[in-house]
Amino acid sequence: MLSSGNLKEIWRKVAKVIHREYYAEKNVLITGGLGFIGSNLAIKLVELGANVTIVDNMLPRQGGNLFNIEPVKDAVRINFSDVRNQLSMNHLVKDQDIVFHLAGQVNHVDSMRDPVLDLEINCHGTLVLMQALRNHNRDAVVVYSGTRGEYGSSVSLPVNEDHPTNPKGLYAVTNLAAEKMIMVYNQIYGIPAVCLRITNTYGPRHQMMHDEYGVFNWFIKKAMDNEALPVFGDGTILRDFLYIDDLVQCLLASASVKDAVGEVFNIGSGAGVSFREIAEKIVSVIGKGSCTFTEFTRERAEVEPGDYWADISKIKKITAWNPAISMEDGIARTCDFYSRYKEHYWLEG
Ligand SMILES: NC(=O)c1ccc[n+]([C@@H]2O[C@H](COP(=O)([O-])OP(=O)(O)OC[C@H]3O[C@@H](n4cnc5c(N)ncnc54)[C@H](O)[C@@H]3O)[C@@H](O)[C@H]2O)c1
Repeated sequence: MLSSGNLKEIWRKVAKVIHREYYAEKNVLITGGLGFIGSNLAIKLVELGANVTIVDNMLPRQGGNLFNIEPVKDAVRINFSDVRNQLSMNHLVKDQDIVFHLAGQVNHVDSMRDPVLDLEINCHGTLVLMQALRNHNRDAVVVYSGTRGEYGSSVSLPVNEDHPTNPKGLYAVTNLAAEKMIMVYNQIYGIPAVCLRITNTYGPRHQMMHDEYGVFNWFIKKAMDNEALPVFGDGTILRDFLYIDDLVQCLLASASVKDAVGEVFNIGSGAGVSFREIAEKIVSVIGKGSCTFTEFTRERAEVEPGDYWADISKIKKITAWNPAISMEDGIARTCDFYSRYKEHYWLEG
């Protein structure tokens, strides 16, 4: 009998063939493509033979980093522009087959400090993109990267897509509003759209300048620097962490499966793990650093939703996607990447 590990390996091989067939020569626009998720996706798309265009405004203190696309820098087109610029977006969406909409204000803490900027980028920016598609290209498939934060505090676990949405912070509110706007364009103008509610993701090419978002990567940095990993509270809160390569596979599957259009999906590993456990695992895999416990800052406590892990049965059923990378492997791969390219990421934020 095949083990689940074997099944996942078979799925990855099949998906590779299907994705190569689907994406070869496709025109793909990635908003926010110089950031963490966008750059990993761009590299994979180039490998699959797609024609990739990136639009990014290099928003300060976020993950935009030209080094992220070093392996494909001569194979992608980069447009340094803002998704809020209607004329730019009108031009950029023309002739695209797929748009991965990943540009966003992603910092939860900043969304409370400067809510208008968060609203401007996450909602106004999304509307500008959808207007561009409505007026210039209604056939492009749009995949939106929303957040699991749209649910707020869990009333049942694991969280499925029918769970109430009561976001705790403004970042999650603007993500939920953007998702709803995209679905209106899908229903009224027939623009094929898929909306994802993505869990905490970690891995190579995430910003390592500050700890205001991306806690898993921040813990890896602390361990690599042989420092203490600061776990908030007693570390028992459970969260769902996904490795970036699994998310990239999921993005590719979401855009290429027809039945995914018009749907909202949870994306995660499907397992809850405590902050204490992840800190201990990172220390153990990297062999450096130590765990320490610290009080929540007021800013963190205000937006902390508590335990979360995702029910991912819907995306698995419709697209056959399955997360395949173990946490130990994910930590080792991430550590290996930053050991080689530390000088491009250990920057002041
Ligand atoms: N990383 C995660 O764990 C996670 C989880 C859930 C959802 N998401 C969502 O996925 C998307 C990508 O996140 P990421 O982790 O890659 O973040 P990131 O900060 O690494 O990348 C975001 C990119 O968007 C760009 N950007 C911001 N505002 C822009 C604008 N107005 N015009 C053009 N470009 C702009 C930034 O310069 C940056 O390069 C975001 O929308 C985020 O909310 C991420």
